Amino acid sequence: MLTYTTYSEAGGVGKSTIGAALLEAHASHGLDVLAIDMDQQNGSLTYLLDVDAPRGDSQADNIVRHLIDRPKGPFQDLIHETEYGFDLIPSHNMLENLEDLLNRAQRMADDLGEGDEFDPYDRLRRVLLESGIPEEYDVIVVDPPATAGPHLYNAVSATRSLVIPVEPTGKGMQSVLGLEELVDGLEDRLEAEIGVLSAVPNGVGRTSDQERYLSEIRDRGYPAPVAIRERSSLFEGCWDQQCPPRRYVEAYRDRQREHEMATLEKIDRLATEIEEVSDR
Ligand SMILES: Nc1ncnc2c1ncn2[C@@H]1O[C@H](COP(=O)(O)OP(=O)(O)O)[C@@H](O)[C@H]1O
Ligand SMILES: [Mg+2]
Repeated sequence: MLTYTTYSEAGGVGKSTIGAALLEAHASHGLDVLAIDMDQQNGSLTYLLDVDAPRGDSQADNIVRHLIDRPKGPFQDLIHETEYGFDLIPSHNMLENLEDLLNRAQRMADDLGEGDEFDPYDRLRRVLLESGIPEEYDVIVVDPPATAGPHLYNAVSATRSLVIPVEPTGKGMQSVLGLEELVDGLEDRLEAEIGVLSAVPNGVGRTSDQERYLSEIRDRGYPAPVAIRERSSLFEGCWDQQCPPRRYVEAYRDRQREHEMATLEKIDRLATEIEEVSDR
C-alpha cells in the first residue's frame, strides 16, 4: 500500500501538476489509484482533471461532511472515476471552512462526552479506514493546500509520507534545508512517523542545473531520483485542456516532441521509484 501527500511549502510549485502526472503513471502501472483533493482553491486537481462535481452545492454530500461526521451518504459515493485510469474524490467549497467546522464538530463531540474519540487532525485517516478504502486501492494520493492547517495535517496523518516538489531556486532549496524541522514538527503534532518518499526539483531551467539540485537534496539525506525540467508548453497545455500530461501528449500533439517524451519518461521513473520505496 502506497499513500502519500503532495507537499510544498509555497503554492504554485507544481504540487497538483506533478501529482496528476504521478497519478496517471501509477495507474499505467496497473495499480488501483485514488486521488483525494483537499484543496479548496479553484485551480486544484479537480479542475485539472476536469471532474464535474458540485463544489458549490452545500447540500451535496462531500468530503468535509464526512470529516465532521455529518455525512449525507456512503463515503464510496464521493468517488468519481476519471478518464485516466484512476479515481478522484473531488474538492468542495466547504473545505474553505474546514477549521471552523472541525472545531464545531469537536465541541459537539465534547458535549456528548465523546471528545476523546474525535481527533480533528486524524479524521481523514479514520474515515478512510471506516469505509474500507485502503482495501480497495494500491495507491492513495492526497493533494492539500500548501498552507499549514487542518487540511495538511489530515492529509499527512492519513498518508504518513510526503512527495515534495521543490522550486529550483535559492528559496526552494532553503525549504529543503527546513524539511527536517518540518517533518519533526508534523511527527510531534500528529504523533506519527512521517517519511519523505521523494523531493522533486520542478521547473529546472538548464540541464546542467539538474544534478546540482539533486545532489544538494541527496546530501540532506532525502531521496531525489529525478528533476523535472521547465516545460511550460506541456504543462500549460495540461491546464488548458484539463488533463494529465501523458494524455495531453497523446491527444493534443500531432507529433511527438523528444523533450516532452523525456519528461514523461522521468515522471514514470519517479512513480516507479516511489512505488519501490514504499515496497521496502
Ligand atoms: N516543470 C514545469 N515547467 C513549467 N511550468 C510548470 C512546471 N510544473 C508546473 N508548472 C506550472 O506551474 C503552475 C502551478 O502549478 P500547480 O501544480 O498548480 O502548483 P501548486 O499545486 O503547487 O499550487 C501551473 O501553471 C503549471 O502549469
Ligand atoms: Mg495545487
